[in-house]
Amino acid sequence: MNPVTLLVQEHNIIKEAVNIAKKLRIKLGDTEHYESIARQLIDFFRNYADTYHHQKEELILFPEMVKANEMLEQGIVFEMFENHSDFRDTIANIISLLDNKNYEKAQDKLEQYCEALLDHIAVEDDEVFEIANSLFDDNELEKIYFRFIDSDSDLGQQRKEELKNNLEALSKNLE
Ligand SMILES: [Fe+2]
Ligand SMILES: [Fe+2]
Repeated sequence: MNPVTLLVQEHNIIKEAVNIAKKLRIKLGDTEHYESIARQLIDFFRNYADTYHHQKEELILFPEMVKANEMLEQGIVFEMFENHSDFRDTIANIISLLDNKNYEKAQDKLEQYCEALLDHIAVEDDEVFEIANSLFDDNELEKIYFRFIDSDSDLGQQRKEELKNNLEALSKNLE
């Protein structure tokens, strides 16, 4: 499989979490329920999106792209790293708002996070991954793919599946 295809598949799962997060506003009147779903979504974003997904980009794909074209280090790859770092700050901010039971503000921040994440995903899908496909030959792409699989295995394939399956349960909760 092309390593980029795996990342695009993960983007599609992350977009499902974004859809759930946007719908969550309707639960603001039921704070206990709201907080439980919000924390599960945060768990997904921190673990699936940040750990499993961003780790493959930050530790494998982006460094390989920079090795192949060092101009990228100060350009679009730098921007992607910056976005990931901003996402971590925003998630920490949302957690402290939830801890303080400031649910309205937590939801506002969560929606801002989702918009920024969708923009980031669009830039990766439309530009960054196109560049990656043009930089590497099939053999290099295959090597990157196997490093992706190793990265997921080290973190735990089963946990990754559980995070994805929990999203489906959350989505049913909001129907
Ligand atoms: Fe990214
Ligand atoms: Fe990504």
